[in-house]
Amino acid sequence: MGAGIVGIGKYVPERVVTNADLEKVMDTSDEWIRTRTGIEERRIADDDTNTSDLAYRAALEAIKNANISPEEIDLILVATVTPDRPFPSVSCMLQERLGATKAAAMDISAACAGFMYGLVTAKQFIEGGAYKYILVVGVEKLSKVTNWEDRNTAVLFGDGAGAAIVGPVSEGRGILSFDLGADGTGGKHLYQDEYIIMNGREVFKFAVRQMGESSLRALEKSGLTKEDIDFLFPHQANIRIMESARQRLDVPEEKMSKTVNKYGNTSAASIPISIVDELEAGKIKDDDIIVMVGFGGGLTWGAIVMRWGR
Ligand code: COA
Repeated sequence: MGAGIVGIGKYVPERVVTNADLEKVMDTSDEWIRTRTGIEERRIADDDTNTSDLAYRAALEAIKNANISPEEIDLILVATVTPDRPFPSVSCMLQERLGATKAAAMDISAACAGFMYGLVTAKQFIEGGAYKYILVVGVEKLSKVTNWEDRNTAVLFGDGAGAAIVGPVSEGRGILSFDLGADGTGGKHLYQDEYIIMNGREVFKFAVRQMGESSLRALEKSGLTKEDIDFLFPHQANIRIMESARQRLDVPEEKMSKTVNKYGNTSAASIPISIVDELEAGKIKDDDIIVMVGFGGGLTWGAIVMRWGR
């Protein structure tokens, strides 16, 4: 029995901050942001909304979409680098709010690759037979660790949450293979003290290399090739990084998810948010081969090959 996504949901805050809004508060321009990153606007949560609130709303949608009850969840994994506080974990806060009384709970810290790490962890518990349903959430309130006086980073990020129920799926469907990795020597290029500090050029180079290579390694493990890809879900950090991955994998433009224009970089949330949007747009159908690939601070990366459907 394989493990796959049996329900999915997202939540983004209502408040839209456009590039024009940023022009008013820092030395930047809509033209610079669009051409360098592909970002047009992002969602920013208000002061009263924390990471766990975003996660809760996305989780409710995923649970409803999976048609299960919270009591059936065996484990909650929340991928985030912006928890409400160091502890209790966002997963434990969710466990209480959802009434997932049976669930064990822990957070995962793998930055923008966090949702990939979460899905792969869930797969192990399900295929090993220990658990049936696992809630995996990718969520960030990056606005609270963004230095709004640093134009190098402030224009890039947004807040949001995506959640998936991972559970048993029909033969041949679900997560077929994965590639996870880390390179701690690159930690100095992207980290948080009080705020996010980033060496954009180094992260850019790393991302361009790993997005393509990690996807190819994952495909090889399932005996598939880039020609088999029906839809590509790259981490939504920067359109130029995504485009270079797309070209490396020979994926046609219309088969790559592009939501970075609407939400900016929402870190661990970007891939599940994109999946929800593409499903709603009718772009994904059962038995499609989808490749998800993320990279982020750590440095970390991860790619997953999945045959869609329950
Ligand atoms: N508005 C206007 N100018 C800006 C700016 C902004 N928001 N941010 C930076 N600049 C300036 C820089 O100061 C620099 O000016 P200088 O040459 O006078 O010093 C100039 O634009 C060019 O900067 P550069 O770093 O060469 O731009 P770039 O083409 O590399 O693009 C990034 C910068 C950040 C968009 C790009 O490096 C990137 O996307 N890197 C990866 C970041 C990422 O994905 N992080 C998250 C990982 S999960």
